Amino acid sequence: MERTFIILKPDALESKNAGNILARIEAEGFRVLGLKLIQMSADDAGRFYAVHKERPFYGDLCKYMSSGPVIVAALEAAGAVQKWRDLIGATDPAQAAPNTIRKLYAKSKEANAVHGSDSVENAKIEIAFFFSERELVG
Ligand code: PPS
Repeated sequence: MERTFIILKPDALESKNAGNILARIEAEGFRVLGLKLIQMSADDAGRFYAVHKERPFYGDLCKYMSSGPVIVAALEAAGAVQKWRDLIGATDPAQAAPNTIRKLYAKSKEANAVHGSDSVENAKIEIAFFFSERELVG
């Protein structure tokens, strides 16, 4: 079994789609290992997205991700990283396939409803960024 890390972004909570997205996670067969509601500081977001720090949108992205509450979760499934990325669709909702989470709920490349790890290795790093071992079920 594989793990991935996800975020329901501020726009998903603001638009009251968190419940719909969590229902989809269950319906698609992911097991939730850990889940919490938090608000990141700008510093948290800066460290989490440090890989993008040379990109022109880095400042906006960090500001946006710390602008309101988010839900962070660790999910488990066979091929969880790719399974989640297939389910959420392209970064830009205009390019996302029908019935993907971003096609259904995202507004823009910034307010795009959800995050997902891009590799098994990064999933481990991202889960450890937000969860202690005691906060994850076995
Ligand atoms: S892209 O378009 O291929 O560069 O996108 P990607 O590499 O997947 O994007 C990485 C994260 O940056 C966010 N993003 C943006 N934020 C603000 N403004 C703009 N223009 C923008 N473009 C991309 C995007 O939502 C990705 O966030 P995460 O949380 O990793 O999904």
